[in-house]
Amino acid sequence: MQSNYTHKVTRKKKINFASNNSNNLTSYDYDTEGMKDFFISCNRLCEDVLIKELQDKSMGGFGSEFAFAEESMSKGFAGVHFRGSMKDAFKIILHSRVASRVYWKLASFEISLKKDHEKEVLYDIIKKIDWCNLFSAKESIKINAILGRGLDQRLNSHYIAQIAKDAVVDSFREQYGQRPNVNTAFPNVPIMLFFERDNLDVLVDLCGEPLGNRHYRQTDFAAPLRENLAASILHLMNWQSNKEVFIDCMCGSGTMVVEALLYALKIPPSFIKVRRALSNDRNDRLKNRWTLENLKIFKESNELKESFKELLKEVNHQVKDVTKNKNTDKNTEKITIFAHDINFRAISTTKTHISFIERELARRLIGEVVFIKSADATTLKKPVQQLAERKGGIIFANPPYGVRLGNDGDDNGEELENLYHNFGENLKLNFKDFRAYIFTGNLELRKKISLQTSSRIELFNGDIDCRLFKYELY
Ligand SMILES: C[S@@+](CC[C@H](N)C(=O)[O-])C[C@H]1O[C@@H](n2cnc3c(N)ncnc32)[C@H](O)[C@@H]1O
Repeated sequence: MQSNYTHKVTRKKKINFASNNSNNLTSYDYDTEGMKDFFISCNRLCEDVLIKELQDKSMGGFGSEFAFAEESMSKGFAGVHFRGSMKDAFKIILHSRVASRVYWKLASFEISLKKDHEKEVLYDIIKKIDWCNLFSAKESIKINAILGRGLDQRLNSHYIAQIAKDAVVDSFREQYGQRPNVNTAFPNVPIMLFFERDNLDVLVDLCGEPLGNRHYRQTDFAAPLRENLAASILHLMNWQSNKEVFIDCMCGSGTMVVEALLYALKIPPSFIKVRRALSNDRNDRLKNRWTLENLKIFKESNELKESFKELLKEVNHQVKDVTKNKNTDKNTEKITIFAHDINFRAISTTKTHISFIERELARRLIGEVVFIKSADATTLKKPVQQLAERKGGIIFANPPYGVRLGNDGDDNGEELENLYHNFGENLKLNFKDFRAYIFTGNLELRKKISLQTSSRIELFNGDIDCRLFKYELY
């Protein structure tokens, strides 16, 4: 049913500006049911993984009717352009393991930010967007400008964001005599301007915090992988969770182990946040933390509010199913994950994180599904007992790179060289029939592993250029 929500701009209607510039604006309407354009961001070079996840019913845990059609998406830079309904966006926010954020595209227009007067055009054009119909003056805002490819990187993105902020604030002031405040830490409506060559996309972030924040991390640990990067790597390793064991032999804080566990148990990545949102605890700091809930399209549509709540309940049911089936699910019985590290603190952090998930699921995992033990990866052996019924498995390592851990300028380079070399030798000796994967940002150290690489996949860990190396061990 169409809501009564009003909108002033018509989809894809081109507006020619009075200025000498022939900027073309494409605005999108705010109706609750219509198809909309979204940008789903992810870690750089994980775009194909995200496309696969969105199309694959099992990886995203969407269920077959949730898998999205190939035609609805196209690859972008550090993300995927997606066309779908607002409800589709909600599903992605709750179920994608790989996505970082979901942005709703409000408008696109042509602009070349080279001359000063074009900055004035930017003010005018941002003001054409129907901001007052998108959110109320009570909501706080933050505007970020990102200068992508084809832009003069000497341009000041803060200054550009400032111009846009003035345009948004003036729209409210002129219409209502009130203005939204700016909140740079926790804005209710985070807005992003993405410039690429002569094009600008104006986006609103529907998530608020990165979707990678799964909310199980209890303690700080040096150099953890981002959760959605770990999920992307897991996808690339193509782990057959009911046939193969999975070993993270340098587990650190256990990010990969937690992602493997949630994936194998088919637990949606948002489940902790969803449970908090559904709980009646008013003091819960996680409540209402999806910024989509601050937009008028959501607040003024019972239909959208209901669908979102239904989707939250579905997530909760998926979790309850796992809890209920604790002794009967044959597939679950076969899941075997090992977490090892030489560092005692790493082992205790991993235990804390898995114990947290245990409590959330009301289900014993340590010693049944996940086996956590301190061990040296250079002497570790195959878990013979658990392998009896299986062909083999995956051994994964994210060793120190000497960038964020290890030799930050101090000289323990030789130690790291030995670590990489000895680990490679141990793989040869003790892990026949396994697939080994090493994720590292130190391409020189990796050369110390004297094994034949069967594939290498380029990835980024933040700004660090990394590779996922695969070794087939015979
Ligand atoms: C980059 S951190 C791993 C971070 C982890 N992926 C996470 O998300 O938290 C590298 C880890 O390798 C561990 N490590 C270093 N040498 C090791 C060895 N010989 N055996 C096992 N673990 C080792 C370190 O203790 C550290 O926890």
